[in-house]
Amino acid sequence: MKTQVAIIGAGPAGLLLGQLLQRSGIDNVVVERRSRDYVLSRIRAGVLEQGTIDLLRAAGVSARMDREGIVHHGFELALEARRERIDLSGPTGGRAVMVYGQTEVTRDLMAARDAAGGASVYEADDVALHSLESEQPFVEFNRDGERERLECDYIAGCDGYHGVSRASIPAGVLREYERVYPFGWLGVLSDTPPVSEELIYARHARGFALCSMRSATRSRYYLQVPDTEQVANWSDERFWDELRRRLPEDVAAALITGPTIEKSIAPLRSFVVEPMQYGRLFLAGDAAHIVPPTGAKGLNLAAGDVGLLASLLKQANDEGSGLPLQRYSERVLRRVWKAERFSWWMTSMLHTFPDEDGFTRRIREAELDYLLGSAAGRATIAENYAGLPMQQ
Ligand code: APR
Ligand code: PHB
Repeated sequence: MKTQVAIIGAGPAGLLLGQLLQRSGIDNVVVERRSRDYVLSRIRAGVLEQGTIDLLRAAGVSARMDREGIVHHGFELALEARRERIDLSGPTGGRAVMVYGQTEVTRDLMAARDAAGGASVYEADDVALHSLESEQPFVEFNRDGERERLECDYIAGCDGYHGVSRASIPAGVLREYERVYPFGWLGVLSDTPPVSEELIYARHARGFALCSMRSATRSRYYLQVPDTEQVANWSDERFWDELRRRLPEDVAAALITGPTIEKSIAPLRSFVVEPMQYGRLFLAGDAAHIVPPTGAKGLNLAAGDVGLLASLLKQANDEGSGLPLQRYSERVLRRVWKAERFSWWMTSMLHTFPDEDGFTRRIREAELDYLLGSAAGRATIAENYAGLPMQQ
């Protein structure tokens, strides 16, 4: 097999890149380790920035999102009993975010790829990348027990944090930056109406909580838990009780509970590798960076990466030169680091840290109090949450 761009991974990063390239007339093949059903069974965050919405529209995959997605012009911060609304649109010239599940984005991208006749290999075993420094890199994998070879001009590593792409770069090339937080998020999904029209991020002495949603009838809630915690310790009843305790009284009183249909714990981590390229391999999405979910930036960062990568690949194709791609990493990392900063900051402001002393806690509370009392402070939060410009 031969193609122009081999895309490793059929998460949102790989599938959106494939769709953008398809529309630019650049041939590509997606190679994914798991089955389609497995990919579609993963439950992930659900807040799309304006720039991501625009990119999905430009990629021609927005019809269902525009019908079913819920536009939010603000969100709430709950600090113990105090409730503060952050207006997103006023300070940002009308930007907004949309609540639409990442799983649905993935489903729409898969459908568009099928309709366009894009080649995909699911359940590809033992994917291996070769000759990355040469002008003829290639990918090998097992399909139905046979070893196959895919020759290409470029490889896009969109295979997530545990993927093979980043691991294929020789030791000593990449610098890694990491922060691991001493807690995780216990998340539940339930077929109950959301407690509030907008998302509520709650700071509380017992730990952080988040009230989110997927639709008018489906809610998503999270609780900060120690990183050693087990899902098995959390009955539905215990979850709802703890959530109520961390929310302002009026919100807790309005909470409608019911059986949960999913319950899982995700660790929190900040992680970046530099550079995001090596020879003819370009990393995008979780393969290159992880953010804690607090700022809802994971999917949006992945979209920003592949938006830039797709336009540089098109430029390289038009000019018949790989030169435009040489600056991919440098350009994309500017936005990545700003989103890393915001996600780290929002995590630091809203969670309780086990070993924190009283002074640090008071400084943190004062910082948030100061920002909320200042138009510039509120604008800073709004601008970052609604999303910084895509291409820089
Ligand atoms: N070979 C082929 N495919 C692989 C391999 C491999 N060795 N390893 C992993 N994959 C696949 C995974 O099965 C997955 O489908 O790569 C895909 C990566 O998808 P995601 O993990 O969803 O990552 P990405 O597309 O970068 O999306 C970023 O996902 O984790 C969230 O918060 C994150 O919202 C962000 C988004
Ligand atoms: C979610 O709905 O899953 C969600 C929303 C906002 C976040 C993180 C997760 O910051």
